[in-house]
Formats: sequence, C-alpha cells, structure tokens
Amino acid sequence: MRDAGLSLPRNDPRQYDDLADEWWRPDGAFAMLHWLAEARAALVPPAARPDALLVDLGCGAGLLAPHLAGKGYRHVGVDLTRSALAQAAAHGVTVVNGDATAVPLAGGCADVVAAGELLEHVPDWRAVVAQACRLLRPGGLLVLDTLNDTALCRLVAVRIAERLPTVPRGIHDPRLFVDHRELVAECARHGVDLRIRGVRPGAPGLLRWLFRQVRGAPTPSGQEPRIVPTGSPAVLYQGRGVRGG
Ligand SMILES: C[S@@+](CC[C@H](N)C(=O)[O-])C[C@H]1O[C@@H](n2cnc3c(N)ncnc32)[C@H](O)[C@@H]1O
Repeated sequence: MRDAGLSLPRNDPRQYDDLADEWWRPDGAFAMLHWLAEARAALVPPAARPDALLVDLGCGAGLLAPHLAGKGYRHVGVDLTRSALAQAAAHGVTVVNGDATAVPLAGGCADVVAAGELLEHVPDWRAVVAQACRLLRPGGLLVLDTLNDTALCRLVAVRIAERLPTVPRGIHDPRLFVDHRELVAECARHGVDLRIRGVRPGAPGLLRWLFRQVRGAPTPSGQEPRIVPTGSPAVLYQGRGVRGG
C-alpha cells in the first residue's frame, strides 16, 4: 500500500496528487471509492427533466461518472485537487476547481447534489452541508456517504483499514469524522430531510477481493465487492434527502 501520509500531515489534500495514478485502477488505493460510487449512484433516479444538473462536491477523479451514464444529468464536479479534476474531465465531467465550502455556482441550480466521501475530509463539514443545500433547487436530492465519529469507526477505518490494501495510510484524520445525528440536524436546519443508513462492503465479495489482493491477482470485471446496507451507521453511512419547497 502506498504511504500517502508519511511525509504529509493526515488528510493533507496534496496526498491526492501523490496518489493521482491510483484513482482509476480498479484494484488500486481507491478501489473502495469505486464500490461506493456505484452504491451512491444507485440512490440517484433518472433525471426528471431535460438539462437536469448534478453537482458532485469533492468529485475527485470523477468515479461517479460511469454509474450516472444514461440517467440524463449534466455532471459538474467541484474539487480542490487539479490532478484529480483533469482525470474527471477526461471522463466527461465538467470540472470546477474550487472549495466545497464556497462553491462558485448559483443557488438552486442543482437537481441533485452528491458529496461522496467528502465531509470526513473537510475541517468545516457544516459549511459543505450549507453549500450543498444552497445549491439544491426545491425538491432537489442530496446524496452522500461518509465516516461516522465513533470509536468503532476510528478502529475500523483507520487502525485496521490502513493496515490492509484498501485505504491509503494517512488519508483520514479521525478528528474530522462526522456524527450522523449532527449531520441529520444540520441538513434539517437547511431544509433537507436527510435519511441515514449504515452500509459496508458485502463480506463474501470483500474477502474474495482481499484474498486476490494478497495473491496479487486482478479482480475480474463484475466481481468487485458490492456495498450493502447494514444495521448500524456506526462506521460508514449513506444519506439521502430531499430539499423542501
Ligand atoms: C476521498 S476523495 C472522494 C472523491 C470522490 N467523491 C469519490 O468518491 O471518488 C475526497 C476528495 O475531496 C476533495 N476535497 C477535500 N477537501 C475539499 C474541499 N474543501 N473542497 C473540495 N474538494 C475537497 C479531495 O481533493 C478529494 O478529491
């Protein structure tokens, strides 16, 4: 596993430049982001009108793009990291180099706002929520996933995961993890009724994937682990909510 954090502080965005060649490798350092992107896109219905806009906050290299194909959205991605945005653009995303806490797009412009694996990387996640809700038109949909601010999550997502070939070492700062109740309350303050559910990689697929990783064998297409619902949001969770009129 690449050691993104050894020469940089935890969660330093420059890690994404060091790991730029990993984004689109199916078995690379960001493999789990591919599985999560598929699960996030499954929460997004086909566009209800022509020219519908999906704003992807913290879009990275645009891993959501293939899973939105055919749903009828213009896909605009906002990210701090230029090396990731160049790859997103190559995958059909219209890119904006900017901060998700101060997005240079008009309020009410978005039919859907996505924030996948972003909130746990931003020191002021409440500012991202405010922006996401501002961007949504009335009736628009917010979809997100993030890591919970629990002891179990710190154990699983940092202490354990960073020792496995699933997560780059140093990519997360556990002090930034997001309590799901606080997130629901913050979305409600901005007019979005967010529903939460815990998710995780399905165990059989994950074990097969880890076994192949240890052997250095590539994952056959279509056999990637699937993200499945789980009983508790204590580690990883998705949120889906509609902005009221
Ligand atoms: C874990 S990656 C997730 C990328 C993408 N959403 C995905 O799931 O594939 C986090 C991304 O958030 C970006 N990021 C971190 N802080 C940000 C901020 N304040 N504004 C915009 N992007 C940010 C990073 O550059 C990185 O691309």
